[in-house]
Order: sequence, then C-alpha cells, then structure tokens
Amino acid sequence: MLEDIKSVLISESELDAKVRELGARISADYAGKDLLVLSVLKGASVFMSDLIRKITIPIQIDFMAASSYGKGTTTTGSVKIIKDLDIDVSGFDILIVEDILDSGVTLSNLIKILASRGPESVSVCALLSKPSRRKVEVPVKYEGFIVPDEFVVGYGLDYAEYYRNLPFIGVLKEEVYSK
Ligand code: IMP
Ligand code: MG
Repeated sequence: MLEDIKSVLISESELDAKVRELGARISADYAGKDLLVLSVLKGASVFMSDLIRKITIPIQIDFMAASSYGKGTTTTGSVKIIKDLDIDVSGFDILIVEDILDSGVTLSNLIKILASRGPESVSVCALLSKPSRRKVEVPVKYEGFIVPDEFVVGYGLDYAEYYRNLPFIGVLKEEVYSK
C-alpha cells in the first residue's frame, strides 16, 4: 500500500494534534447542550472515532451514509442518502463530522435535510477542506486543514474503497489512477 503513495501531506502527529484541538473547542462550545455528533460514512469514520474520544462532555453519536463519488475522483453532483439516522433529532445540537469538504454538494444537501427535522442547530466539522473546488458555499464551524486540489487518501479517505486504513493523509501516485 505504501508504495502507491507519492507524498505524505498530513502526518499522524499533525492529525493527532488537530483532533485534540478540535475536541477541546467542541467540548467548550457545546457544554450544557445535547450534542449529537453525526458521522458521514465511510470516509469520516476514522476522524470521528478519534475526535469523539477527545470530547469531554456527554454526547450521542449516530451515522449517515451518502454517496457522491463512485470509482472516479470527480463529483457527480447528486447526493443519495444510503443510510439514515436512527433517532429523532429534535432538541439536539447536531455536529456533522466530515472527512473532506470538496464541492460542498454532499454537505449542503445533508444540512438541508437535517435542518428540516427541527434540531436546535446544525453545524459542520470537516477535517479537510479544498476551497478551490467549492461549487456550493457551506458554513464550516470547525475546519481541520486546508488542502490543495489534489486527490488525497488515508485516515478514512479512499480511492476506489482502498487506502482508508493509512494512518496519515497522503497523495497517490498518478500511475495508480491509470491502472
Ligand atoms: P463534495 O460533495 O464534493 O464536497 O464531496 C465530498 C466527498 O467526496 C467526501 O466526503 C469524500 O468522500 C469525497 N472526496 C472529495 N475529495 C476527495 C479526495 O481528495 N480524496 C478522497 N475522497 C474525496
Ligand atoms: Mg465521504
């Protein structure tokens, strides 16, 4: 797997420090509230599991799955909910945890869907952001790292469903896409 990686963009220790910082900010901002931390499968699952262990207030977690990418590396523009929430969100402050904010299409759709269900608030925590690729503006309350317009993998992010288990964020060699 490592031989397919061109470069390490964000190391394990940089990820760890950022997750700690975000966890502390979230703990302070949502003290006294009913927080539901919501992960978007599958890419955000690794970030989510690290992040929630750095949150020191009582929270609930849940998962949703939405698809916007197939095997390729560009967005299709449409978003499909594949797995919905198990609970009623009214009364909760929702924090959507995302792996990467790219075009913004996936998140803006999710925010609309969730907001229509009557929660106290809906906010976004995105580990990575590629602002140069934005098609739809999405308000991001917590942003981990700004990344260049390159396809990145690892720490939950995939290419064709592989590389999610890399412990860092890296850039794939071009020849991997043309295989
Ligand atoms: P958006 O709707 O274009 O913002 O797409 C966001 C989703 O696309 C993310 O949750 C990822 O699953 C996927 N994605 C976007 N850019 C990358 C990337 O560089 N590597 C891996 N997945 C990506
Ligand atoms: Mg994703």
